Amino acid sequence: MGLTMLPSRGVLVAAIGLVCASLLLGRCLAGDPVVYFDWDVSYISVAPLGVKQEVIAINGQFPGPIVNVTTNYNLIVNVQNDLDEPLLITWDGIQHRKNSWQDGVLGTNCPIPSGWNWTYQFQVKDQIGSFFYFPSINLQRAAGGYGGIIVNNRAVIAVPFGKPDGDITIFIGDWYNRNHKDLRKDLDDGKSLGMPDGVLINGKGPYRYNTTLVPDGKTYRIRVHNVGISTSLNFRIQNHNMLLVETEGSYTVQQNYTNLDIHVGQSYSFLVTMDQNASSDYYVVASARFVNESLWQRVTGVAVLHYSNSKGKASGALPDPPNDLFDKTFSMNQARTIRWNVSAGAARPNPQGSFKYGQITVTQVYLLKNKPPVVINGKHRTTLNGISYAPPTTPIRLADQFDESGVYTLDFPTKPLDGPPRIASSVINGTYRGFMEIIFQNNDTKVMTYHFDGYAFFVVGMDYGEWTESSRGTYNKWDGVARCTTQVYPGAWTAILVSLDNVGVWNLRAENLDAWYLGQETYVNVVNPEQTNKTELAPPDNVLYCGRLQSKQRYISSKYLCIKEAYQDLTINLIIICRPQAIHHKASSASRPLGSKMVVDLLLLFAAAAIFL
Ligand SMILES: *[C@@H]1O[C@H](CO)[C@@H](O)[C@H](O)[C@H]1NC(C)=O
Ligand SMILES: *[C@@H]1O[C@H](CO)[C@@H](O)[C@H](O)[C@H]1NC(C)=O
Ligand SMILES: *[C@@H]1O[C@H](CO)[C@@H](O)[C@H](O)[C@H]1NC(C)=O
Ligand SMILES: *[C@@H]1O[C@H](CO)[C@@H](O)[C@H](O)[C@H]1NC(C)=O
Ligand SMILES: *[C@@H]1O[C@H](CO)[C@@H](O)[C@H](O)[C@H]1NC(C)=O
Ligand SMILES: *[C@@H]1O[C@H](CO)[C@@H](O)[C@H](O)[C@H]1NC(C)=O
Ligand SMILES: *[C@@H]1O[C@H](CO)[C@@H](O)[C@H](O)[C@H]1NC(C)=O
Ligand SMILES: *[C@@H]1O[C@H](CO)[C@@H](O)[C@H](O)[C@H]1NC(C)=O
Ligand SMILES: *[C@@H]1O[C@H](CO)[C@@H](O)[C@H](O)[C@H]1NC(C)=O
Ligand SMILES: *[C@@H]1O[C@H](CO)[C@@H](O)[C@H](O)[C@H]1NC(C)=O
Repeated sequence: MGLTMLPSRGVLVAAIGLVCASLLLGRCLAGDPVVYFDWDVSYISVAPLGVKQEVIAINGQFPGPIVNVTTNYNLIVNVQNDLDEPLLITWDGIQHRKNSWQDGVLGTNCPIPSGWNWTYQFQVKDQIGSFFYFPSINLQRAAGGYGGIIVNNRAVIAVPFGKPDGDITIFIGDWYNRNHKDLRKDLDDGKSLGMPDGVLINGKGPYRYNTTLVPDGKTYRIRVHNVGISTSLNFRIQNHNMLLVETEGSYTVQQNYTNLDIHVGQSYSFLVTMDQNASSDYYVVASARFVNESLWQRVTGVAVLHYSNSKGKASGALPDPPNDLFDKTFSMNQARTIRWNVSAGAARPNPQGSFKYGQITVTQVYLLKNKPPVVINGKHRTTLNGISYAPPTTPIRLADQFDESGVYTLDFPTKPLDGPPRIASSVINGTYRGFMEIIFQNNDTKVMTYHFDGYAFFVVGMDYGEWTESSRGTYNKWDGVARCTTQVYPGAWTAILVSLDNVGVWNLRAENLDAWYLGQETYVNVVNPEQTNKTELAPPDNVLYCGRLQSKQRYISSKYLCIKEAYQDLTINLIIICRPQAIHHKASSASRPLGSKMVVDLLLLFAAAAIFL
């Protein structure tokens, strides 16, 4: 299949043991494999919709490589930031047990400065499923930089369906021909982003993405991620049923859909059997939801499902979207049919449903209400409960570690505030081992999605209107699906339950990029009051410092390290000292040619060193 699948380069499964101990400093359990990735994040110039623009690529690929690992693997991802602005990569849906240090958001990590590299080290502990990574700051996801994460079951644990004949990842998402910097400027200026210029499927415009598949009853697992900016999409494949089997790490009750609404940040796995004749290819469609279709026609992604022995091009009309312009309950009813398979095992051999969330007593309740954008101190902002979050320059987790007080406040309101909205670094105080109920109330006019890092939560209810205490009577206390991103319909609420068993500082945010960028997020700080190092890992050795802790920063980018060493050693022989470093850095991505870029880097180094010395 001519797909961008596993990166064969720069990936290496190392033997366990020694490597594990020395590189992860005892962070990984003996026996769990270590996988290495070397990523160079840079702009490439491409024209997905016919207009040339700067797109964020990883090792020159857009979308980025797929991280294909198995439960409990340790990942080491060395990220070189070759963008012209700071960078953080976040791993949506990866729970980072005891380890919010690797989450890649501003509450836990200082951004990697332009030109620097930083190595993420984490374990995909006790989880399975389909997720994706992306750059988390500065609206960069609007320019790409995303890629898939597959966490396979360990061999000893049964998967609740037969082994598919292949595995395909499909990224769908709305797209603008303006780059993320221009989009940012629009938001800063108080403008809305307006109608997207189109929908990309695997980084390509309409009809440009076509895969080769084998027909004759072969069955593929298709993992679909909405990596877009802010548009809900309806996904469907002409003449093919899609059997839903998994969402964001939970096996679902298996059901056929002819189409499914996939909201921003959500991931689903379907089994699709190539059961049509090969007289032609078939269309794959992702179209904008809840909009006037005749005005939004261009916001439709089309790919081609290409049977390997197909005798003709895909033909006929694109498969129809749901006909529900006047039926706002269709999508919500469809969402309610997505349920947990309580008898299937997932990361562990015991059935998913053995965690009986419906019987646990709730200890903390947060009713979080969003509102349409407002102006606060002359700035266009979005809010939750009247708070528009401003990330402090010192990451919250780091401030706690070094007892820096006054960086943020632990006073996020449990219900919507009366009075004028304000900008604040206000955070939720999560009780370790507590059981939290969060109700999202969407007072805006479009579908929102909310995501919680570090956890999977149970989606127990959603309905139109205002949530009240009696709404609890409608909750699904048995097989609500556990996931990390849920939609909240306009004028409606969604309730989730989550067991706060993961110590750390965890981002709770709107996944819609525009609302997130303008302040619709907060963090949940989960602290174990007991003094122990057993429930949270220590900060990694390479932790970056910034804000109030800037002066602790010892590390210098590998690119420039040799200059400092040369200076300290008072040696002028830069070639000897610099070269191994530079070559090591570049050569680590095995088959990447040591081309002109390295020569330029070295020349820059010499020039810089000349000035420095
Ligand atoms: C940067 O990359 C070099 C080698 O490629 C590595 O030795 C170093 O640990 C990396 N720096 C950080 C902070 O991860
Ligand atoms: C749920 O999982 C079990 C165990 O793997 C499987 O046998 C069953 O078919 C699944 N049920 C549905 C409805 O998907
Ligand atoms: C992921 O790796 C497993 C082996 O570990 C392999 O069977 C599977 O085909 C790979 N998946 C993809 C999408 O490359
Ligand atoms: C696949 O897309 C390319 C353009 O990206 C086009 O040239 C080619 O004809 C397409 N193939 C099929 C089978 O549609
Ligand atoms: C789903 O649809 C396929 C046909 O495309 C059918 O063979 C299968 O039995 C259906 N499965 C369920 C659970 O309805
Ligand atoms: C193949 O399927 C299409 C529609 O699915 C049908 O119109 C056509 O007659 C079929 N051709 C053959 C040779 O079965
Ligand atoms: C959709 O937009 C078209 C073109 O502006 C307009 O004629 C039509 O009335 C709109 N439909 C609805 C349902 O608003
Ligand atoms: C945060 O919650 C804990 C209980 O989980 C409590 O002991 C502590 O006082 C709270 N802190 C603040 C600032 O409210
Ligand atoms: C937003 O809240 C106001 C006041 O509670 C209410 O009148 C209005 O209907 C709500 N709008 C939506 C879309 O929920
Ligand atoms: C945890 O604390 C214990 C006792 O203070 C100490 O012996 C041990 O080395 C610590 N472990 C780690 C990983 O820091």
